[in-house]
Amino acid sequence: MSFKTVAVIGAGQMGQGIAQVFATAGFNVILNDIDSAAIEKGLATLTRSLNKLADKELLSEDPAIIAGRITGSTDFSALVAAELVVEAATENEALKHKIFSQLDKICPASTVLASNTSSISITRLAAVTERPDKVVGLHFMNPVPLMKLIEVIKGLQTSEETYQSMLEVADKLNKTAVTSQDRPGFIVNRILMPMINEAIFTLYEGVGNAAEIDEAMKLGAAHPMGPLALADLIGLDTCLSIMQVLNEGFSDSKYRPCPLLKQMVDAGYLGRKTGRGFYQYD
Ligand SMILES: NC(=O)c1ccc[n+]([C@@H]2O[C@H](COP(=O)([O-])OP(=O)(O)OC[C@H]3O[C@@H](n4cnc5c(N)ncnc54)[C@H](O)[C@@H]3O)[C@@H](O)[C@H]2O)c1
Repeated sequence: MSFKTVAVIGAGQMGQGIAQVFATAGFNVILNDIDSAAIEKGLATLTRSLNKLADKELLSEDPAIIAGRITGSTDFSALVAAELVVEAATENEALKHKIFSQLDKICPASTVLASNTSSISITRLAAVTERPDKVVGLHFMNPVPLMKLIEVIKGLQTSEETYQSMLEVADKLNKTAVTSQDRPGFIVNRILMPMINEAIFTLYEGVGNAAEIDEAMKLGAAHPMGPLALADLIGLDTCLSIMQVLNEGFSDSKYRPCPLLKQMVDAGYLGRKTGRGFYQYD
């Protein structure tokens, strides 16, 4: 399979980064969101990111040429032009099922439908479509332009051809692919998110304050950033959603989300994206 035009659904922190790396690799990109303000913000953020990379001489083309390959659109029907769709909308299974079902209706039968979900079953997403063999997980890491890994997730129905085409895409994006079977949280979040959740329990129980917990894990476990700062970067709503998927998916109470995490999401303290999480941001 060869892809020239890629649609990215969701222009949040992941969607904008995914659009950026595809455009940098020469693909034409349609960046879709239900919210036109999110598209404007996404395009502005990725343009700043491209300019920074150009200043560091890390781009082989003019950043304006790369950004020029990306078209923002709130029009869902514009996605028919894509040969590959990467869904990066909010981490909510019902929402993703709706999006996949709609995509299946409008996209040509040959279009591959990939999800950037952090934890939701690719097998169940595939099952809402009439092309389950062409549904696959393509899980980018945050921040997308800097992180080398892509997890490629095979649903039970994903064909070998679709899977191989994602390995080729990862290669074209200059990323390293690791394959995961379709289990809740895949590999990275199965391991990472319980660690973050435990850090939140550590704060909740007053074992240490946020700065102490993060400092302890940076200096004591050689993590490049502390787990609470990382939770703020990921988004606390996304962290909660992943813990809920692990908790329900494994029916094991060791994955129960910390009550403080739930309370912070209820309060709208979602981390960097809302300016307040475990830390305050400008
Ligand atoms: N945040 C991370 O560190 C991270 C890392 C890897 C994967 N992910 C996954 O990426 C996805 C997006 O996460 P994010 O952090 O970018 O979230 P975000 O909250 O920053 O952005 C989500 C975007 O989706 C848009 N959206 C919601 N419903 C939509 C619809 N029906 N059609 C089009 N757009 C819609 C929202 O308007 C918003 O702009 C989630 O599945 C998440 O689990 C997140």
